[in-house]
Amino acid sequence: MGVAVEPHTPAAHLDRLRALVEEGLAGLVPAPTPERLYEPVRYVLSGRGKRLRPLLLLLSAEAHGVPAPAALPAALGVEVFHNFTLVHDDIMDHSDERRGRPTVHVRWSEDTAILAGDYLLALSYDLLARTESPSLARLLRRYGAMVTALCEGQTLDKAFETQPAVTVADYLAMIDRKTAALLCWALEAGALLGGAPAGRVEALGQAGRHLGRAFQIQDDLLDLVADDGRWGKPVGGDLMEGKKTYLLLTALERAGADDDAFFRRIAEGTGLPPSDVADARERMRRLGVLDAARQAVDEHTEAGLSALDALPESPARTTLHWLFRRMQARLH
Ligand code: IPE
Ligand code: IPE
Ligand code: MG
Ligand code: MG
Ligand code: MG
Repeated sequence: MGVAVEPHTPAAHLDRLRALVEEGLAGLVPAPTPERLYEPVRYVLSGRGKRLRPLLLLLSAEAHGVPAPAALPAALGVEVFHNFTLVHDDIMDHSDERRGRPTVHVRWSEDTAILAGDYLLALSYDLLARTESPSLARLLRRYGAMVTALCEGQTLDKAFETQPAVTVADYLAMIDRKTAALLCWALEAGALLGGAPAGRVEALGQAGRHLGRAFQIQDDLLDLVADDGRWGKPVGGDLMEGKKTYLLLTALERAGADDDAFFRRIAEGTGLPPSDVADARERMRRLGVLDAARQAVDEHTEAGLSALDALPESPARTTLHWLFRRMQARLH
């Protein structure tokens, strides 16, 4: 049995919204044929995701007077879209595991993963279009801009792998698109659905940008320091793949001669053998890289929380604050 949660706490609030999202996702793709397409789609949607993006959207909507059922199609749409990006991202990153299970291209095939992803992208638009709101056209226009930003961010992420001179500033511009743009959209969408004034929509976008940076830098950090079982993918995967993460770029900035040669080989070559991951982690710890990443996560979380203060006080705002803190403290 799980731990009982007090009914009026932010934790209970989130549990209720998460249950709505899980129920909605479970009912999305009944059982049509061909199985070869829909089985992997259901597999992806039933994975143990945190459901961060739909929770942000539902809470932002509620903070603007929109009840959860009215915002649910858009919330499901943003989670479905996120799952599409993960399926294609795992092909691009050569990742074999996600959420503690084999990735779609490994369990089935690359063809299947491309098609399952395409289907999920189309489904996300379909869900969004089911939203009944005078703001729908604005929501869709911003959605298109967000999808464009995400494609640009992923392009830069892949290009950086083989690009020798990448700076932390380049990295931040890249994650603003590949990760923050979607969190931004989720928070802004809730405000647009509630007919919020432009200044409020902008403040929520600001909160999303900071949360997005905090979230991606922490993803990079956890990729190296997380507990294998809960993380659901191999620890050290980014280094093995030669990714220009916040950690690797900060290590390159700080390294003396010996460490510099070590990290430059990862950045300029094709990555790192699994047996050298522990050594890389120890060098980064010694150079203060892990602490620097932690600090960046904390700073962006605080900036995101300040931006949330533009919202009038409400239970939804309190739960949003709490969710930001939960993400800051997350271990997976
Ligand atoms: C993973 O997102 C991709 C990133 C933007 C880092 P999440 O960490 O939200 O993945 P799930 O949905 O909880 O599995
Ligand atoms: C996440 O980048 C961005 C998108 C999925 C668009 P990552 O490649 O770091 O995500 P994980 O670590 O595989 O979840
Ligand atoms: Mg990636
Ligand atoms: Mg990846
Ligand atoms: Mg990652």
